[in-house]
Amino acid sequence: MPDREERFRVMLDVVEAAVGPNPRVLDLACGTGSISRRLFARLPQANSVALDMDPTLMAIAGGSFEGDRRITFVTADLSQPGWADDLAGEPFDAVLTATALHWMQPDPLARLYADLAKVVRPGGVFVNADHMPDPETPLLNAIDETARRGYEARARAAGAVDWEQWWALVAADPRLSAVYAASRAILDDHVKGVTHPVAWHTEKLAEAGFPESGVAWRSVTDAVVVAIR
Ligand SMILES: C[S@@+](CC[C@H](N)C(=O)[O-])C[C@H]1O[C@@H](n2cnc3c(N)ncnc32)[C@H](O)[C@@H]1O
Repeated sequence: MPDREERFRVMLDVVEAAVGPNPRVLDLACGTGSISRRLFARLPQANSVALDMDPTLMAIAGGSFEGDRRITFVTADLSQPGWADDLAGEPFDAVLTATALHWMQPDPLARLYADLAKVVRPGGVFVNADHMPDPETPLLNAIDETARRGYEARARAAGAVDWEQWWALVAADPRLSAVYAASRAILDDHVKGVTHPVAWHTEKLAEAGFPESGVAWRSVTDAVVVAIR
């Protein structure tokens, strides 16, 4: 994915500037914990609650952070009301998410934003780095898609695996067979989500109770949207 590390850097710039060097963070739809990994490298005094619904990704995240007392894990489906019931403790200084919320349908995502307004403390931030193409610029989006395919082809030639190839490697690993079967059932049931332009996100975040939101970084079709609680 082009610009992945750049987006994480911007996300953590925002966190450090907005809420300081020892934030309590919710790593939302954490996958294998990519955000928490970079958070701890940048801000070693931070703490993270990492939440996802996928048992394989959670198993890998749990293993790779084994013994690290700064992180705890919660399994929950963000599209279900009550997803935040198992979050203990005070509201978060920052809720961070990347390449994930486009998996969701519009109504559950708008509901999630309303829930996040209760989960982030006043003055805290929600940062969403995701694919947010603007339907008003189809020609530019097509150029971006061509450029992205070129980037992916070069990365593949250099040995990178894509999301599907990565899952094929997981499926072939006997240590992961039980969790993989559970993940497969979730992935097979999953109804593909929808992308929205930046304006959709900022509008829904305002309705949800974030008084200000805007763009901290963007390319043609990806953006980092920051909402301040
Ligand atoms: C492409 S991964 C990104 C993970 C991580 N943020 C990263 O950048 O490496 C998308 C993640 O979103 C999670 N996810 C998607 N929909 C979800 C939902 N409704 N509830 C919880 N997690 C969800 C998936 O399980 C997956 O781990």
